[in-house]
Amino acid sequence: MAKEGRIGVFDSGIGGLTVLREVRTLLPGEETIYLGDTARVPYGTKSGEAVIRYSLEVAGFMKGKGIKMLVVACNTASAYALPALKEALDVPVVGVIEPGAATAAEATMAKRIGVIGTEATIKSGAYFDAIKAIDSKTAVYMKACPLFVPLAEEGWLDNDVTRLTAESYLANFKKEEIDILVLGCTHYPLLKPLIAGVMGKGVTLIDSARATAAEVKRILQEKGLVRDADPAFPAAPPEFFVTDSPERFATVGKRFFGDGLVSAELVRLGDS
Ligand code: DGL
Repeated sequence: MAKEGRIGVFDSGIGGLTVLREVRTLLPGEETIYLGDTARVPYGTKSGEAVIRYSLEVAGFMKGKGIKMLVVACNTASAYALPALKEALDVPVVGVIEPGAATAAEATMAKRIGVIGTEATIKSGAYFDAIKAIDSKTAVYMKACPLFVPLAEEGWLDNDVTRLTAESYLANFKKEEIDILVLGCTHYPLLKPLIAGVMGKGVTLIDSARATAAEVKRILQEKGLVRDADPAFPAAPPEFFVTDSPERFATVGKRFFGDGLVSAELVRLGDS
């Protein structure tokens, strides 16, 4: 595998742009390609079997683009499809759960961690298992927060509806005296200031996006595949693909990614 290959980043929709942003910040010399499966979002309410099928279709697309690594930015897809993706691809595959879990396990002093995510991610127990595998004595409390996804997409990042929703979802974590809360969903980093306000000073929020980008860099370095930034030949901007509504992706995506997102190309995958 050559250094010149691009890094493929995939999510069920728009939220994975938070991960792409972090990858580009940490690895400015890399070229990237992003696919949002916007025709079939949300993955968070689907069965594990459907999530695996969709993820393998995305992997097939990415393979055709000659990627040198696949980043599964979607927590739900990481929770269910990582083993199948690793088997299907002959390039490194990185999910968001293990990096986030490892950062949380390292950071907790109270040995009490909260995890929030989609229904499917929480149901899979993937964060629970990953944290327990690192430290079986750490208590892990989990809560599905499905309304955070549409609220983030709507751009309701700091208003009364979102605050009340957060207070209701997060109330139990206060009783459980956690000192770390893992934002186990691509969309939640957008709500970070609001969630931090609700949880108060004693709780640190762990953003899987940042931890995942660090893991991507570590693996590329280990394999000698990092493409260093070269001012004479700046990396091409990311190429964006979606399975539905490229215009909506570009509009809402700016909220996640900034002005670097101009347009996306429509592709068909499976039954999308
Ligand atoms: N990308 C999903 C995740 O991180 C959130 C949106 C969805 O449910 O598809 O779990």
